[in-house]
Amino acid sequence: MTNANQIEHQREFSFSDSDFRFLAGLANQKTGIVLAEHKRDMVYGRLARRLRALGLQSFTEYCELLQSDAGHDELPNLVNAITTNLTGFFREAHHFEHLKTEAAKWHENGAKRIRVWSSACSSGMEPYSIAMTLKSAIPNTDKCDVRILATDIDSNMVNTGIAGEYTLSDVEQVPAASKQFIQNMGAGNRVKMSPQLKQLITFNTLNLLNPWPIKGPFDAIFCRNVVIYFDKATKQKLFSRMAELLPMGGWLYIGHSENLHGISDRFELVGRTIYRRVK
Ligand SMILES: C[S@@+](CC[C@H](N)C(=O)[O-])C[C@H]1O[C@@H](n2cnc3c(N)ncnc32)[C@H](O)[C@@H]1O
Repeated sequence: MTNANQIEHQREFSFSDSDFRFLAGLANQKTGIVLAEHKRDMVYGRLARRLRALGLQSFTEYCELLQSDAGHDELPNLVNAITTNLTGFFREAHHFEHLKTEAAKWHENGAKRIRVWSSACSSGMEPYSIAMTLKSAIPNTDKCDVRILATDIDSNMVNTGIAGEYTLSDVEQVPAASKQFIQNMGAGNRVKMSPQLKQLITFNTLNLLNPWPIKGPFDAIFCRNVVIYFDKATKQKLFSRMAELLPMGGWLYIGHSENLHGISDRFELVGRTIYRRVK
């Protein structure tokens, strides 16, 4: 027996090449996420839980379920299982420093309406960091119509964002001045976001590949650490659509390992992974 066959043999569920190809194809079609061969074990690990929950015996049965009439109801579970949701409060802190400076300028210039979109918000730490940043730059957000839209394809993550509850270690990176917006929950290590932050944010599920029921314009869009999973054509379309939702000079923040070279000429790089719309 070869090593690969031995591993296959020891596994709880059989997982054939054609099962993997079917699941990778469906995931790509529905989410834009590219699941290359090296993601195979990850896909097995994450979906094995679904198979157990559904009482299925093999991945072939799972693929058949997805192709049946009941497959429509299972699709969100597949999507939620294959997304990678790594995030953090004030992750890539330089973006929040930049946003704070810009937001203070918007306020000084008498802005009557401020809009920011966290377009792959995961469990909500990104939009809550945006809310804390806007609160620290703008003395009275009530007087200035500040709104943050927070969306993600993963409904479990969006629900976590709506709940706004995290652990003490999650909020370690929050700057001391913003800790006033975090409330302890009893004696445990749970904390929750304050109502002042929550009221600034609207959470919704949204697949970036689908039509966006969003008017904009936004002053800034956060699109961080999501397009790494997409192919080039998907990235090109996505950033072109985002440009349409920003005014000239509007800000786009992308992830630490991403860039727009060869993807979009509608943005100018002005700082580390910070872009401004120019076309
Ligand atoms: C690695 S997390 C990044 C979270 C956050 N932006 C950050 O940088 O900390 C990537 C997020 O993108 C979401 N995602 C993946 N494909 C998506 C799609 N097609 N539409 C919307 N969100 C998507 C995932 O559910 C996940 O929560």
